[in-house]
This record gives sequence, C-alpha cells and structure tokens, in this order.
Amino acid sequence: MRTLLIVAVVIVAAQAFVRPGAAQEAGPVPVPTPDAIARAERAIAELQTTLVGRLKEELGRGGPQAAVTVCRDEAQQMTAAIGAKHGLTIGRTSHRVRNPANAPRPWALAWVASYADTGMADARPAEFELAGGRLGVLRPIGTMDMCVMCHGPREVVQATIGNLLAASYPDDRAVGFAPGDLRGWFWAEVPTR
Ligand code: HEC
Repeated sequence: MRTLLIVAVVIVAAQAFVRPGAAQEAGPVPVPTPDAIARAERAIAELQTTLVGRLKEELGRGGPQAAVTVCRDEAQQMTAAIGAKHGLTIGRTSHRVRNPANAPRPWALAWVASYADTGMADARPAEFELAGGRLGVLRPIGTMDMCVMCHGPREVVQATIGNLLAASYPDDRAVGFAPGDLRGWFWAEVPTR
C-alpha cells in the first residue's frame, strides 16, 4: 500500500515537471516555450535587481528600519509593474512566507513544499504547463548575508528592526534563515500563445 502511494506520488510529480527537452512534445505549450522561459527569466532578473537595488539604497540612506518600507510598502507594487511591463504575471513565494499574499500559487505548492528542507545549492528550477496555454516558471532565491537582518533568527530581526515587522505581519514565518539557505522562489506565469 505504502509502495503504491509512493509510486502514485512520483507519477504525479513527474507529470507536473516539464523538463526543458520534453516541452516540445508536451501538447498545450508547443513551440514558443523556450521563448516563454526566456521572457520569464528576464522579468525575474529585473525584479531581483530592482528589489536588491532598492534595499541597498534604503539601507545606505536610512538603515534597516527604512529598508523595511521597501519590502513592506513597495515590493508588491514594483512586482506588479515589472510583470505588466514584460506581459506576464510574476511574484515571490516561499515554503515559509512573511506576507500571506506571497503564498505559493496552486501549481507551485507541491514543488515549493518538497524543497522546504533544502539548501540553495540543491534547489532545482522548474517549469510547469498551466491551463489556458500558460507556462509556470519557478526559480530559487537564496539567503544572502544582507537578508539575515530581516529573515535571520527572530532575536536578530527583533534587535535590528524592532517591532516594525511584528505589527504588519502577525503570522510571520519568514525568520530563522541563514546564509546559504533556500529563502524562497521567484515565480512567473507566462502566456505562450
Ligand atoms: C529590511 C528588511 C528586509 C530585508 C533586508 C530583506 N527582506 Fe525579504 N521581506 C521583507 C518583508 C517585510 C517581506 C514581506 C513583504 C513582501 O515583500 O510582500 C519580505 C518578503 C520576502 C519574500 C517573499 C516571500 C515572503 O516571505 O513573504 C522573499 C522571497 C524575500 N523576502 C527574500 C529576501 C531575500 C533573498 C533578501 C536578501 C537579499 C531579503 N528578503 C531581504 C523584509 C526584508
């Protein structure tokens, strides 16, 4: 029974994951797939550069407390704007989110959960066929030194930025990360036709 269950889970997982080479014969997303992946990656790169750039800017200008406003007040809007500019939907997620609005998309849930205990080095990118001729793209996000002041041990976060986060995120699960940990994922949903 247990073996059966494991076999079933493996089959479901294998179906969800579209390997780069397999995309051609996969059906609903034919030729434009490599194109769609490239578009998603360009948007993700821009989002990453923009967020880290704004973080560093605010850290230099007003310190950690000022930087919180980038993540808390600007991140969602910047994310939506960059998605719109590239003609797709984009966001960040994690197995342990701070903002419930960043919960994994339904198609990404199993993949994100399966990497909950993995370091950044072992996290694998993935693509998924979605309904409506869209492609789902997941790219891992590592924890860097500069992330720890807001995502590290709770006492460190508390000491650096005080109660600023607790008030906005009463159910904050995005603490306890160390450099090298998998912090979360960029996701994108790209139209392929
Ligand atoms: C100044 C504090 C601060 C720093 C520094 C910071 N973050 Fe965050 N982070 C936040 C806040 C606040 C949120 C929730 C707001 C949002 O983006 O929706 C968040 C959300 C996230 C999310 C989205 C998932 C979730 O938990 O809601 C990811 C992924 C993330 N951060 C990664 C990072 C990485 C990687 C770094 C280092 C490069 C970093 N953060 C540095 C404050 C910070």
